[in-house]
Amino acid sequence: MADTAQPDGSPDAAAQAVFEARGLTTGYDEIPIVRDVDVSFAQGAITSIIGTNGAGKSTVVKALVGLLPAWQGTVRLEGRAITRMPAHLRVREGLAYVPQGRIVFPEMTVLENLELGGFTLARQRAKLAQLLEGVFGMFPRLAERRAQPAGTLSGGEQQMLAIGRALMSAPRVIALDEPSLGLSPKFVEMVFAKLLELKSAGYTIVMVEQKASRALEISDWGYVMHLGRVAFRGAASVLRADEQVKRAYLGELPPELEAQFMQSETQ
Ligand SMILES: Nc1ncnc2c1ncn2[C@@H]1O[C@H](COP(=O)(O)OP(=O)(O)OP(=O)(O)O)[C@@H](O)[C@H]1O
Ligand SMILES: [Mg+2]
Repeated sequence: MADTAQPDGSPDAAAQAVFEARGLTTGYDEIPIVRDVDVSFAQGAITSIIGTNGAGKSTVVKALVGLLPAWQGTVRLEGRAITRMPAHLRVREGLAYVPQGRIVFPEMTVLENLELGGFTLARQRAKLAQLLEGVFGMFPRLAERRAQPAGTLSGGEQQMLAIGRALMSAPRVIALDEPSLGLSPKFVEMVFAKLLELKSAGYTIVMVEQKASRALEISDWGYVMHLGRVAFRGAASVLRADEQVKRAYLGELPPELEAQFMQSETQ
């Protein structure tokens, strides 16, 4: 498939990349799922990875954060190759991961969940206190509920906690898999608003999202995956305007079909 949405004339995300994979191939049980994937994430930007179900989006992110080995290719964080580095060491290097399904430890309190997120800074009490203050400032709900078991939070609050826990490792890059999944529209908007806040604070954000159209609206850059490969890449605004991308991945009808549809509706 042609990369018709290449951001020609716009700044190249690769040039400002703080995190990237080149020629990434990986999969499960010797069956390759993603092949020869190049992705770059620009400093201080939001980049979305969208695509159909089963396209390999989560697989790419798992390889980026070290939960799946790269069979081929390289992963670099801030210029350093981390291709073979285990996931927990990548966290120490400034890469946080918020997995799909807002996984929290339900029996543990909100505070304990957050403290776990700070495992990389175990003995740096002042730093941890400062990070905790930052998380509570960003998510006042979590501050109010700090002594409550995480399992008693609403779905939206648990997603806030999952993001807060990631922030406790003092990351520079945060990768989130489907942060809006299963949330009410109000919480979806809240999550996206928080991601924009994180971007303003200088974090580099990588997210996989089903809500492709909405995700691209808040993103600077985007990748569209199809059958284990990158089918389109570019500035989010360019992808959103691309007819092929709209038709196949954004759940929007092309204008001519939309006009026909409108006509048939009114007849
Ligand atoms: N643990 C696993 N073992 C074997 N195959 C897997 C495993 N996880 C995913 N797959 C397969 O890899 C392919 C890509 O899955 P992946 O979860 O990366 O897709 P995705 O783009 O994130 O999809 P979705 O939008 O449904 O989350 C799918 O065909 C899936 O069945
Ligand atoms: Mg997925």
